[in-house]
Amino acid sequence: MGESAIPQGIGTGAWQGVENLIPLLQEVQGEYHHLPADVLRAISRRFNIPLTQVFHVATFYNCFSLEPRGHHQVKVCLGTACHVRGAQRILDRILRELGMPACGTTRDYAFTVEPVRCLGCCALAPIVRVDERTYGHLQQSKIPKVLQHYRSLAEVAA
Ligand code: FES
Repeated sequence: MGESAIPQGIGTGAWQGVENLIPLLQEVQGEYHHLPADVLRAISRRFNIPLTQVFHVATFYNCFSLEPRGHHQVKVCLGTACHVRGAQRILDRILRELGMPACGTTRDYAFTVEPVRCLGCCALAPIVRVDERTYGHLQQSKIPKVLQHYRSLAEVAA
């Protein structure tokens, strides 16, 4: 695949050189919710950055993923404070609601669920963060409503 693999509007203008690789990859991640290999190859060619360097950066930072991720990122804190306040039951309920046997990405790519260690607001345990929003003191009974909120966002956008 050629340079057409790079989404329109990404990598234009001031995007030149390796110093801009991270913001460029952030744009691609934002567009695709992961970093497709053909886009990484196209970036390497267009900006004359060794492919090994592109992949090194793409795999070094947690904010990047080579695997397709869901449209909404659900981070369930399993840190100590959240654990003692029932975080595992919260995670189990989320997985059950989404019909998932384990953490990962739903088949429709609507959600990616992953456990994390301490989101830095232990006083609000148990904590779940969906995209940029933090849900504190989350009760199992509220989970269907929270997930439905994000499902309806996707329906509006479709
Ligand atoms: S342990 Fe969950 S926010 Fe700190």
